[in-house]
Amino acid sequence: MTRMGQLSRIGVAIDSELLEKFDVLIAGRGYTNRSEAFRDLIREELVQKNWENPDRQVVGTVTLVYDHHVRMLNEKLTNIQHDHFHNVLSTLHVHLDHDNCLEVLVVKGKAKDVQTVADALISTKGVKHGQLTLTTSGADL
Ligand code: NI
Repeated sequence: MTRMGQLSRIGVAIDSELLEKFDVLIAGRGYTNRSEAFRDLIREELVQKNWENPDRQVVGTVTLVYDHHVRMLNEKLTNIQHDHFHNVLSTLHVHLDHDNCLEVLVVKGKAKDVQTVADALISTKGVKHGQLTLTTSGADL
């Protein structure tokens, strides 16, 4: 069951030009009303804020693209994941083409631990691109 807070209505004074740009932006993203767009912006900030606390429980995904022909790379990446198995919930591996692999990991735990795993994976030599996406369990939003 979702716990819903009471709705509060607020009035926001905003520069007309800025509001116009905002409306264009959110229309392009498929929002049908400003309120939901504002709520999402606020939630995004709250999620980011959570990650600033190293001991806070967080959820995220790590995306990696790498060439599996690079010597020992697969083994290195697997070793890192085993070293932090408590923080790696699941992995998805896609063979993009003859050489390149895409891996997506679902990570969870204290922000500092999740960041450590992500940094270790992304900085491994041979990883062409890596990114940690911060999200939330949703429980506090
Ligand atoms: Ni592959």
